[in-house]
This record gives sequence, structure tokens and C-alpha cells, in this order.
Amino acid sequence: MKVYKLQDQLNKDISALKSNNKTIGFVPTMGALHKGHMSLVQKALNNNDLVIVSIFVNPTQFDNQSDLVKYPRTLDRDVDLLKTVSDNILVYAPSVEDIYQKNVKSIKFDFDGLEHEMEGEFRDGHFDGVGTIVKRLLEIVRPNSAYFGEKDFQQLQIIKKLVEKFDIPVKIVGCKIHRELNGLAMSSRNERLKPEYKKAAPFIYKTLLTAKEKFGTKSANKVTEWVNKQFAKHKILKLEYFIIADVDTLKKVKRKSNKKTYRAFIAVYADDIRLIDNIALN
Ligand code: PAJ
Repeated sequence: MKVYKLQDQLNKDISALKSNNKTIGFVPTMGALHKGHMSLVQKALNNNDLVIVSIFVNPTQFDNQSDLVKYPRTLDRDVDLLKTVSDNILVYAPSVEDIYQKNVKSIKFDFDGLEHEMEGEFRDGHFDGVGTIVKRLLEIVRPNSAYFGEKDFQQLQIIKKLVEKFDIPVKIVGCKIHRELNGLAMSSRNERLKPEYKKAAPFIYKTLLTAKEKFGTKSANKVTEWVNKQFAKHKILKLEYFIIADVDTLKKVKRKSNKKTYRAFIAVYADDIRLIDNIALN
């Protein structure tokens, strides 16, 4: 399996693939690959001749420096895992310099307000960082399709907006959330959970499932109040936010309409580890 450190080398091989009319699927990641990432890779393999996986811990999307420092970096293990699924995968694992040269800064984006909701409110500058790196990677990789998880639903919507605004010729494919058997959404951060928090964390998805059931008969406000109460009673998990929002605008729902599609979004602290999840409501 080829692992590229430099975009110039990758570029040459991509140009050759493109002139042979090969379709390229792209899965951008920050590494520490788990089954959630692998479900995106599998979908990309099913629909393309070749898949490029990028592994890059992007400094500009971290609002918290200690989170950036602690982020797991396991390139050798990631490459071994990718080798087990197919030979039709190329890995792009650049250095910070190959991406940003000397200017480790993000572009300021206007995503029509999507960037100010939820994660945008709690993680300053996060989506400028995500927009900057994904735009850059799409320019380098030039894929036919790029795959993003609904685990980061707001990110997925923002990437769709990015591609629309900058007229980037790529199809953005959303992929279902991959969960542990106990319902916990898979995440590289789960590895860092201490045993008592790991045991408690499935409560997040359980609460989302009940919230979904309640949303059938109750107002968004009532469901939100109920979720807040469940977490207020919880001994160790701390709720940061629970919001029921319109999937297109990501704005908090005021009054339900049966013409709209809603999702519930949640962010929870398990010790110092921040976990996010979401669920389709209708
Ligand atoms: P990362 O957190 O590594 O996630 C890479 C991709 O895997 C994202 O599209 C994410 O939504 C998806 N993913 C993660 N866990 C998942 C799960 N349990 N089920 C389904 N998909 C899952 O998201 C990023 O990296 C970065 O922001 C990135 C887009 C690479 C830009 O730096």
C-alpha cells in the first residue's frame, strides 16, 4: 500500500489515474482509524475504482490545544488496518508543512450561518479549520466522490455548503453512524475513556432513542426539558447541549412542521472527554 507524505508525488499518481478514467473515492480522516472510519472506506471502495484515505491531524480545527496534543497518532496501525480490506487504497499522510507551508492559519468562511450553530457555538473557529483543510484536500485529491460520516452531521452539512459555494466538482456522500453494540457512537476519543465513563457513555444514545420516541407526541421544548432532567440526575456525565434542529438550517426548532426534517444533537462531557452524537427524528 502506497503511503504518500508529499502532495507533489500524490498529484502525479492522481493525474495518471484520472487520465485512465479511474474513479476516485476520498475519505478524509484524522487517523486512529476505527470501524466507523472503515465503514466509510468500505462504501467508497464499493462505488469507486480506487480510494484515497487522508490521515492528517489538522491543527487549525482544534480550539483546545491540549486536545490537539493528546489526539492519538497511530499511522502504522492505521495503514495495517487499511491493508486488511483492500489493495485499492492509497494513503495520504502529509506533514503540517506539506498542507500549510509556513502559514498554519484557517480561511474565514461564510457557510450561511450553519457554522454558528451547536459545535460552532461551543468550539470557536472549528469550522473555519475544517473548511480550510477539506477544501485544500479536495483540491489536492480531486476525487469523484468524498465520504463523510453523519456522526459529525453539522460537519457534513457544512462540507455540502462548501462544495456548493466554491463550485468544487465532487459528490459529497453522507454515511450512517457506526455504533458499538451498546449503542455508543464509535469515536477515536472512546479509547481515552476511563472504565467508569466507558460504562456510562451508552446512556447518551439510550437517551437519544427515548427522545426520538417522545418527539412523536411531544413538543421539541418538552423533549429538551426531559433530556436536560435526565442528565441533571446523572452522576458522572455532564450535558453540554441537547438541541432539536432543522436538518437544513441546523437552527433550533421553534414549532414542529410536518414538512420539515429534524434531528436531535447532543454533546456530553465524560470526564474531560467530549462526546457528540445525533439521531434522525422523523
Ligand atoms: P475524523 O474525526 O477522523 O473523522 C473522519 C470521518 O469519519 C468523518 O467524516 C466522520 O464523520 C467519520 N466518522 C467518525 N466516526 C464515525 C462513526 N462512528 N460512524 C460513521 N462515521 C464516522 O471528521 C474529521 O476527522 C475531520 O474533521 C476531517 C473531516 C478529516 C477534517 O480534518
